[in-house]
Amino acid sequence: MKNAAFPYPAAIFNLDGVLIDTAVHHYAAWSRLAQNLGFDFSYEQHEELRGLSRMASLERILEWGGIYLTEAEKLHMSDVKNNWYLESITQVTPANVLPGVIDFLKELKSAGIKLALSSSSKSARQVLASAALTSFFDAIVDGQSIRKSIPDPECFLLAAKALDVEPGQCVVFEDSFLGIKAALFGGFTVVGIGRKDYLKEAHGVLPDFNDVSMENLASILSESVSYSFSLQR
Ligand code: G6P
Repeated sequence: MKNAAFPYPAAIFNLDGVLIDTAVHHYAAWSRLAQNLGFDFSYEQHEELRGLSRMASLERILEWGGIYLTEAEKLHMSDVKNNWYLESITQVTPANVLPGVIDFLKELKSAGIKLALSSSSKSARQVLASAALTSFFDAIVDGQSIRKSIPDPECFLLAAKALDVEPGQCVVFEDSFLGIKAALFGGFTVVGIGRKDYLKEAHGVLPDFNDVSMENLASILSESVSYSFSLQR
């Protein structure tokens, strides 16, 4: 059933923190690595790592600990962390999908909106499969297919290309500050999922997908999108 109020033929979803909360698993593995190196960092600090690639995250964490490692040691440490992460995400099940996500994906899908997943994680496909979400997506762009991490918009541009649409025809759902910057830079309409104070550059911000419908999203976006376009004229 088409929804006349929703002007986007395509939607692109980030995975971690948008569809499923994998941050707890990333944090557990990074924190275990830091403890092995003799320091620790808080979950609040870990929030700053949202959307960053594995190596960029490691470099930030090493800075926090004041630790210097050679490139070879960094590669080894990022492998160690990833093995712990992979072990941890074997616990992911459909019950870990965030509230409201399934209903909203179903609504978009039955309205004929093309859907893509765009994630910097090399394990995105595994998480999607464990959460039984794969079949919703017409295209999947993950850490295996991108060369430039956010704030470069490559991950979103590749997703739009895979769906055969222009950035201006897509709405992107993102939970990270840098991801929002990247999608705006790429020319997408962007909805932040999370805290309004942190994600205020997005065209609209939702705390989560609870009670979100195409109709109420279209009305949230209508003012801010035309406002931001009028600023560009
Ligand atoms: C996402 C997460 C980051 C993670 C990155 C790479 O963007 O938000 O926390 O570091 O993916 O994930 P990977 O599974 O490839 O290490």
